[in-house]
Amino acid sequence: MNRSTAQPQDQMETRPEPIARVGRIVAVTGAHAIILLDVEERINIDAERSPEIGTLLKVDCTTSISLALVSALSSPMPSHNKSEQELRIVEVEFIGELPKDEHGRPKAFRRGISSYPSLGDIVYRASRSELSKAYACDSETSIRVGHIQQDPTIPAMIKIDEMLGKHFAVLGTTGTGKSCTVALILRRILEKNPQAHILLLDVHREYAQSFKGISEVITPDNMVLPFWLLNFDEAVEILIGQQPGRETDVEILRELIPMAKARYMSNQRRDKNGVTPRNGFDSSNIGVDTPLPFRTSDLTGILEEYIGKLELRGELAPYKRLKSRIETISRDPRYAFMFGSLTVQDNMSQVLARLFRIPVNGKPIAIVELGGLPSEIINVVVSVLARLAFDFGVWSAGRIPITFVCEEAHRYVPIDKTLGFEPTKKSISRIAKEGRKYGVSLCMITQRPAELDPTILSQCNTIFSMRLTNERDQDILRAGISDAAASLLEFMSTMGTGEAITFGEGVALPTRIKFDMLAEDEWPKSNTASFTSNWAKDLPDDSFLHEIVHRWRSQTFNPDAANYAVETAPAQVVVPQHAPIRRESLQPAAGQQRPGIQPPPAGFGQQAPQQPLRRSADLAQPAPAAGQQASLANLIKQFRT
Ligand SMILES: Nc1ncnc2c1ncn2[C@@H]1O[C@H](COP(=O)(O)OP(=O)(O)OP(=O)(O)O)[C@@H](O)[C@H]1O
Ligand SMILES: [Mg+2]
Repeated sequence: MNRSTAQPQDQMETRPEPIARVGRIVAVTGAHAIILLDVEERINIDAERSPEIGTLLKVDCTTSISLALVSALSSPMPSHNKSEQELRIVEVEFIGELPKDEHGRPKAFRRGISSYPSLGDIVYRASRSELSKAYACDSETSIRVGHIQQDPTIPAMIKIDEMLGKHFAVLGTTGTGKSCTVALILRRILEKNPQAHILLLDVHREYAQSFKGISEVITPDNMVLPFWLLNFDEAVEILIGQQPGRETDVEILRELIPMAKARYMSNQRRDKNGVTPRNGFDSSNIGVDTPLPFRTSDLTGILEEYIGKLELRGELAPYKRLKSRIETISRDPRYAFMFGSLTVQDNMSQVLARLFRIPVNGKPIAIVELGGLPSEIINVVVSVLARLAFDFGVWSAGRIPITFVCEEAHRYVPIDKTLGFEPTKKSISRIAKEGRKYGVSLCMITQRPAELDPTILSQCNTIFSMRLTNERDQDILRAGISDAAASLLEFMSTMGTGEAITFGEGVALPTRIKFDMLAEDEWPKSNTASFTSNWAKDLPDDSFLHEIVHRWRSQTFNPDAANYAVETAPAQVVVPQHAPIRRESLQPAAGQQRPGIQPPPAGFGQQAPQQPLRRSADLAQPAPAAGQQASLANLIKQFRT
């Protein structure tokens, strides 16, 4: 290999930087090389600048500058006193290069090496301008999230399209800053892309204050997720559950649901003043999973008809069981967001519009607060939302990219087959495996990567690993990554709060970074409790405890809704099973809105000339609201037929 003999000159620098020679190459195996550290040069390098794991080094070649990351340091012959010389060895992985232009000036970084190092090549520390070239990303489509550990003046950049296009994960032990990191990354993305579409599942109700004014906060009190949007698997889990010998009940339900949907559709056609019949909609296309409205009263009505038939006398039990379960669930106040609506109406466009922010209306992120809901209900909600996101991507052909952010991901897609909720696992796995093609991306956040389904983690192409102390969690990450990144992972158990090892397609190089500080009013509300300061204060009066008990019983954090729910559900306290509550008690008086339920945004249902949907690159531009509404209605039609 023809190498330049001149000392490398950094022509991009305004202020020349001292050239730090590190040593020479004494062994090469593929992209892996061993460098013998210079004794005299090593003394000249100040301690702060001596190579460490993750430091970027370079070899100056004729046509390019080859860059390598330090992956190991050792001293095979340690000396016992200062006067003795000792061998010091640095192992590196060559990861990319800066090709030179015709004047010998380094151009933009590219991965892969065209000139491999050979024995005797001199190795230097990369200069500041080489570092910034190596870690730089296109400023149009990248965001700064912090700085690299090697040099605080070099920003840590993330390539938005690469990171979101192929899913990303934020991992770390509790309190290491995962939620702050997610808030920081999303905020920076939103600054660049105010017309984004992000759905964030917030199990601990901590993100609303991070996105004040730019988020649609959906709580159990104001959530509307009609039961007929459930697919068959989800409906079975809610209406039948995991009881033994449930096969008969499942088959009955499979037969009933399409019948109830057909009944609803034919009623709509007959009703001249009702919803306009869909052009070309063929009722023979109604399947058990077709997202068409139907009434629970039609389900129970059909069941009654079956029960009334004499020939069924011997087999009445599953029909009666199913009818009673449907009636109980649809009266359960905890499921009010699914069954609580006074009338069944086709509001699928409104539901999708609110969840996926179409139009954005200045709120590009929907935060679905699930805190306080029982876990079986959370499971169903997460399953429906993940499935809707995926199906929306499919039926919109990926024209409106959506990012689905999932906190505590190990809860929903656990590695343990006996845990979790099957439909939720299915919905999230589908996004992980196929979402990229349909513009649906995942952000998985977990404290326990070892408890997360490995197929999900393997689909996350950008990883932010914060401090992880558990061996099993660390091993999961080490599998299947380059030596350079794997050596960085050695820092996993010792990193400070707000630091991370990042690797994958969303970043230029595997690196250790320090995230920028979020302003205090942008922190997710999850501050570690101060025991000493709280225990030094007097307790609040009795009303504080009463309020907690109210919330607990009514399963809501909304004080208005709490009063409402407590008034309407007194029997719940006494009866261990879901107490039957009179249906009317759940409904608002004529002309009143149910507390917390938002009226649909202005403009819903309006006919508008159809306009082409936007491509991902247009996300920074506002989209025409009416056009999106019309397109949404069109998509739903395709979805159903
Ligand atoms: N980038 C940051 N800017 C400001 N503060 C930060 C940052 N990262 C971490 N912190 C501090 O660390 C604390 C814990 O962070 P955070 O709540 O994000 O941890 P977590 O990993 O999400 O914890 P858990 O697993 O329990 O949810 C925050 O309250 C904040 O004080
Ligand atoms: Mg958190």
